[in-house]
Amino acid sequence: MKPLEGKTAIITGAGGGIGRPTARMLADAGARVVVSDIREDAANATRDQIIERGGTAVAVPADITREPEVRELVAAAKGFGGVDVLVNNGGGSLARDQDIISMEVDVWDATMALNARGPMLCCKHAIPEMLGRGGGAIVNISSGAALSGQLGIPAYSAAKAAVIALTRSVATLYGQQGIRCNAITPGLILHERLAEIFPVEQIEIDAENILTPRPGTPEDIAAAVIFLASAQARFINAQVLPVDGGLLAHTPTYAQTRAMGSRRLEVKERS
Ligand SMILES: NC(=O)c1ccc[n+]([C@@H]2O[C@H](COP(=O)([O-])OP(=O)(O)OC[C@H]3O[C@@H](n4cnc5c(N)ncnc54)[C@H](O)[C@@H]3O)[C@@H](O)[C@H]2O)c1
Repeated sequence: MKPLEGKTAIITGAGGGIGRPTARMLADAGARVVVSDIREDAANATRDQIIERGGTAVAVPADITREPEVRELVAAAKGFGGVDVLVNNGGGSLARDQDIISMEVDVWDATMALNARGPMLCCKHAIPEMLGRGGGAIVNISSGAALSGQLGIPAYSAAKAAVIALTRSVATLYGQQGIRCNAITPGLILHERLAEIFPVEQIEIDAENILTPRPGTPEDIAAAVIFLASAQARFINAQVLPVDGGLLAHTPTYAQTRAMGSRRLEVKERS
């Protein structure tokens, strides 16, 4: 039996990037997928891809920052089979999110609205549906940027840290009623759109600092989403799972030491 057979899953931000392959893999895992994105055409395209592969999906455009649209999204999912799984994937940073001294309040607020208010609203409206079915699984896509200092994107980092706190709050408030809520902190995950805009030098630096021989892909995130959403993870709640190739787990001097050409620090013998 497929891990999500008989389940209905909402995924936001599913019109591209990490969201589209994750939506496809949720369907491959047996879920009926409610594909949502602020961009209607993009959501429709993801839905069509799923149906072409023999899966079951519906597209429901929604801006996750707007409560009436989130309410409609959840209502549509209810009509499509209910809500067993919610993947809060929609999010991102603004180009003007550069530093604190030049921070414009509208940039801070918009970043918070997209990355923190959006997942909260989706939880707010999905949880009652899940409770009515005896429980459910929520997977929030946070970011490694929430866990370590960054040269840039301060509003995004703070908003993604809020997602981690939201994750723990949801699990603590509703865990006894069958709700599991976990977060994933991806490292750099290249996909078509990001590969176009991301500086090559930054990609090379990332490659030097991860502990895997290849960079992360959207499918790596999707695999973790499906695991956390499935019964395989039934005793895992309120956790934060880094899916980052070990980027944040090693000695800070890792890349420089490797560049010295030695895996072990060679200590000169005493005379
Ligand atoms: N790609 C990475 O390296 C990376 C790393 C860490 C975390 N993340 C997180 O993973 C998630 C997916 O990232 P991605 O790289 O695929 O980004 P992306 O920008 O390619 O995709 C985000 C999707 O969200 C949609 N969206 C934007 N605003 C929305 C709104 N208000 N309501 C509903 N949908 C909206 C966009 O249309 C888009 O399809 C995001 O939460 C991001 O912060 C990504």
